Amino acid sequence: MSAQRACGVAELEQDTPLRVELDGVPMAIVKDSDGEIHAIGDTCTHGDISLSEGFVEGKMLECWAHGSAFSLCTGKPLNLPAYEPVPVYAVEIDGDDVLIDPTVTKEV
Ligand code: FES
Repeated sequence: MSAQRACGVAELEQDTPLRVELDGVPMAIVKDSDGEIHAIGDTCTHGDISLSEGFVEGKMLECWAHGSAFSLCTGKPLNLPAYEPVPVYAVEIDGDDVLIDPTVTKEV
């Protein structure tokens, strides 16, 4: 498996998560306030909630349900109630496209 197109760079609004599914793997793609693009697993590890419906603050994506914030860089929860990390995917930019391989998570 190799990286595939997840979305266009222009589709991403700063601090507004975009939910995509690649080969059945849900992920939240976020362009942060530094213009850096991140992709993390979309499902909160505390409950079956889509993190892309949450709020971005700096390098964190906060679950709207109970307030756990996940690092966009490491996938780790920064506060309870979630205590398990979400996966983090490597992002490649190819021209106007955001490419992600859903089978490869970053070692963080
Ligand atoms: S479901 Fe996300 S913090 Fe509870």
